Amino acid sequence: MRRTQIRPVRCGDEAAFRRFLAGLSLHTQTLRFFTGVGRPPASLLTALMAVDERRDALVAVHEGEIVGHAMSYRGARADDVEIAVVVTDQWQGIGLGPRLIDTLLTRAAIRGATTVGMDVLGENRRALRLIRRAWPDAKLRVSSGSVEVTAMIKQAVVFAEQRSVGSPLTA
Ligand SMILES: CC(C)(COP(=O)(O)OP(=O)(O)OC[C@H]1O[C@@H](n2cnc3c(N)ncnc32)[C@H](O)[C@@H]1OP(=O)(O)O)[C@@H](O)C(=O)NCCC(=O)NCCS
Repeated sequence: MRRTQIRPVRCGDEAAFRRFLAGLSLHTQTLRFFTGVGRPPASLLTALMAVDERRDALVAVHEGEIVGHAMSYRGARADDVEIAVVVTDQWQGIGLGPRLIDTLLTRAAIRGATTVGMDVLGENRRALRLIRRAWPDAKLRVSSGSVEVTAMIKQAVVFAEQRSVGSPLTA
């Protein structure tokens, strides 16, 4: 697999992030945002890059260019995170999406999350296959064209990460 670094979003990523979003095909934009975003507005960029006590955002980087993004949001319940992920078209299908999700959930679990939620368009077969592979016990609820996924976060992954030298909180 081509080498990528997965790391938290940081200041200075704006220009690369704008290129990443604008470079997504309309199809990929629609699967991720449920609509095309064309030239992404500054407000969308800000929302996707925000990192605070409730929000986490990771990018996959190859030779200085962003090729994937994943984010989580913790709502009122501290043990539950909503996530979303997108990989640029040319990088789809080589395992980058699952790597982004694993890292994101490891970081969320360290902060106390035990369940994960994800909204996916009903036509998004690749994402639904990924979900079934990652979380065979996930609950799927169909709601006007989209599928609301809820699953338990695997604690075993978290414990393995905590024992490893590099912390996913600082990856
Ligand atoms: C959904 C998405 C995030 C998945 O990420 P990805 O990196 O493409 O995920 P995968 O690499 O697992 O792709 C899936 C395929 O690659 C295969 N694959 C995974 N690792 C592989 C590897 N190392 N070598 C070869 N093939 C591999 C998987 O078996 C899988 O095959 P399938 O689609 O026939 O089931 C990505 O396709 C995407 O950005 N889609 C648009 C946005 C979106 O749908 N987001 C989800 C809603 S928020």
